[in-house]
Amino acid sequence: MSRRTRSRQEWEVRASTLAKKTTNPIRRIVENLQVEPNPDKELIALSIGDPTTFGNLNPPEQVLQAVRDSVELHTSRGYAPSKGHYEARAAVAKYSAHQGDISPDDVILASGCSHAIELVITVLAESGQNIIIPRPGFSIYQTLALGLGIIIKYYNLLPNKQWKVDLDDLESQIDDDTAAIVVINPSNPCGSVYDKEHLSEILDVASRNRVPIIADEIYEHFIFSGNKYTAISSISKDVPVLSCGGLTKRFLVPGWRMGWVIIHDRNDILGKEIRAGLMNLSMRIVGPSAIIQRALPAILEYTPQSFFDDVLFFIESQAKLAYDELRRAPGLRPIMPEGAMYMMIEIKISYFPEFSNECDFVERLVSEQSVFCLPGQCFDYPNYMRIVLTIPEDKMREACQRIIIFCKEHIVFSEKRKDIDKEVSMKTDVQVICDNDITRVV
Ligand SMILES: Cc1ncc(COP(=O)(O)O)c(C=O)c1O
Repeated sequence: MSRRTRSRQEWEVRASTLAKKTTNPIRRIVENLQVEPNPDKELIALSIGDPTTFGNLNPPEQVLQAVRDSVELHTSRGYAPSKGHYEARAAVAKYSAHQGDISPDDVILASGCSHAIELVITVLAESGQNIIIPRPGFSIYQTLALGLGIIIKYYNLLPNKQWKVDLDDLESQIDDDTAAIVVINPSNPCGSVYDKEHLSEILDVASRNRVPIIADEIYEHFIFSGNKYTAISSISKDVPVLSCGGLTKRFLVPGWRMGWVIIHDRNDILGKEIRAGLMNLSMRIVGPSAIIQRALPAILEYTPQSFFDDVLFFIESQAKLAYDELRRAPGLRPIMPEGAMYMMIEIKISYFPEFSNECDFVERLVSEQSVFCLPGQCFDYPNYMRIVLTIPEDKMREACQRIIIFCKEHIVFSEKRKDIDKEVSMKTDVQVICDNDITRVV
């Protein structure tokens, strides 16, 4: 006698809700930009936030040797404890002493900073709750939260105040279902760096409303001259901070997937439950590669300061170069970053009537000049585009020249707004011809 436990007669294999609701806004937008570069010009991608893309920036020998040595160890081949090998966590605790008093037990290793962010979002928020993220801000938060039914809310950053947080807006977004505020400092995509005073103001909002902070510090220490890096956890009096970091950007090894969460909870507000929760969640994939875990103490200990200084000097020089060049592009307003490896550029879209938004602008820039910048939509911020500053200098110079040509070819001044337009045309150093109701630049 056959026993039937299931009535289904036909095959029906469906993707889960989590799978269906998980999207990466950057990928989605970039894949929808169906445009071919100009075949006569080499494509220059200013869009990819991976400092290894062009091969001009490489980790120092000490870092490579640490991994070679690790490969030889039999202890780098087995499973590590799910929150990471003790020695590796101890090394992160020591390396991160500027963030506050940290013990190895406060550290959980993760597969890149993305995994660290996933751990902290999922430990703090239930489906139906919300986390508040900066706008413009990096899109991984949507990717990780939405599929789980966690709602994303935004607080505005102020482009004319070096992308500081609009504190009133931040506070107005907080409600009873808010599980965390995300602070990305230094910022992707803005390149802003918050000083102690501003971080204190953000902490005051969090403290008043009893909301923990997720500190995305993957660009920690990526600071241009004249600025100082402060970890938000180091000045928090009461607000618990879950700091997410890793090797990815500072050590130029995004593919090695080594990240971490550091728990800062001076007043024991998170208690055992959050620590245990993070521990449970870490068991889902048992941490990052043991090879990199075993190499981590040497990487963090022996990387020379001169390496960090050289990388930062290069990126800051690129920022200055791009800023000086693109200020001459009519209709664009670059905003000089203070750190990280990006620059945001405002596109005064009304000067480019051919384009209905920055995606059109970016598409045509690819098809005519073979320069690809990331449209602001990727960061929920229309009328801007983001460029990366890690590309080689000659390519950066060439890309800026092409962007300037593109703007000059497409900008249109309106007769009715002559006074404002005059200001913009002054920086174009090109001939301006008036004909009835439009002013053309040639
Ligand atoms: C602000 C920010 N957070 C997190 C990440 C993810 O880092 P990882 O590659 O280590 O997962 C990135 C990567 O670009 C980033 O820009």
